[in-house]
Amino acid sequence: MENDRTTTAPSRLRAGFVGAGFMAEVHSRAARAAGAEIAGIASSNPASAARAKDRLGVERAYASAQDLVQDDKIDVIHVCTPNATHVALAEAALNAGKHVVCEKPLATNVQDAAHLVELAATAGTVATVPFVYRFHPMVREARERIASGQTGRISTIQGSYLQDWLLSRDDDNWRVDAGIGGPSRAFADIGSHLCDLIEFVTGDRISRVGALSRTLFTGRANHKNVQTEDLVAAVFATETGTVGNLLVSQVAPGRKNRLMIEISGSESTVQFDQEAPETLWLGKRTGSQLLVRDPAALSPDAARLSVLPGGHPQGYQDAFNAFVADTYAAISGDIREGLPTFRDGLRAAILTERIIGSSNSGQWIDVPGVKQLEGVQQ
Ligand SMILES: NC(=O)c1ccc[n+]([C@@H]2O[C@H](COP(=O)([O-])OP(=O)(O)OC[C@H]3O[C@@H](n4cnc5c(N)ncnc54)[C@H](O)[C@@H]3O)[C@@H](O)[C@H]2O)c1
Repeated sequence: MENDRTTTAPSRLRAGFVGAGFMAEVHSRAARAAGAEIAGIASSNPASAARAKDRLGVERAYASAQDLVQDDKIDVIHVCTPNATHVALAEAALNAGKHVVCEKPLATNVQDAAHLVELAATAGTVATVPFVYRFHPMVREARERIASGQTGRISTIQGSYLQDWLLSRDDDNWRVDAGIGGPSRAFADIGSHLCDLIEFVTGDRISRVGALSRTLFTGRANHKNVQTEDLVAAVFATETGTVGNLLVSQVAPGRKNRLMIEISGSESTVQFDQEAPETLWLGKRTGSQLLVRDPAALSPDAARLSVLPGGHPQGYQDAFNAFVADTYAAISGDIREGLPTFRDGLRAAILTERIIGSSNSGQWIDVPGVKQLEGVQQ
């Protein structure tokens, strides 16, 4: 069977990238795979942009992000910079009439994220946030099994996102600095992906949280007085009355990027682990099985994202490529299932604020939906 994505005519979009680190590499690979012209890059200074131009094979280095977003020849801006810079950069790009892909967290507080949602609506351009784990075929398979009732009535949700790259006091990064990364670190950085995935797969919404967080090191190699959290544990309830728990940590030895969700219903359990993204564990009272990705046996949305045949493993970059391809498809008017937009970025900001609020106050806290929040602001 022909695949939608591989038969899509190459996009002629001209893409510009702000930032020249890990994400600029991943985004530019994905943009190239989607057929865009890798047209421009700006970074923290002209020298960094010039180095990235050569390293990533970009047509032109710009002296500043302003110069890049003001260039009429650029159609879409990818914001791949530290968190606290996202709002001003996304705002400048939207005001210049560009389509925008802005990294998560969309903003470091709810007000700024809501402002960007409004700006994007006014601009009328496509504005997306890379919650890319949605784009693993086996995530779509889990989602379809829940939506079609094959898992039965959902009773519990368990999720964790564990890493170890900040395990020791010597480990350091701009993310630990609240002024650059935002007041929440572990949760905003990776808990946001976890909650997005849980809500995307279940179609349910977290409505009440009770959380605890810990900062293991208040000083790191280059930062004194670190306030941002290393880990968060939370219990939650959803709008439909399901209960669940979350564990998010950047100090869990041996765990590199272990995002796991496990959802149990009256008929079966589905478990997805992004470090083994080619499989889905289906737990049953009798006869549990490990479902291996095979496009011929998957639901249509999961099969659509299977760009390779079974037995030819897909991973993180493929999920990212699919996200960027779907963003570019939306720019040409083809809105595909499951595209995460700035509204999803706002949703993550709301959840992050409430989780940290609960941890700070020791209280259970209600989590409003995006619509409720918009209602309050009007
Ligand atoms: N969606 C995902 O799966 C995923 C994964 C990793 C990181 N991220 C997000 O991507 C963003 C970037 O993370 P990273 O890991 O690439 O960081 P990084 O440190 O590797 O790169 C950041 C880049 O931004 C540049 N920069 C800093 N301030 C700037 C400014 N004001 N203007 C222009 N450029 C500036 C730096 O010079 C650097 O090149 C973060 O917001 C992070 O949360 C998302």
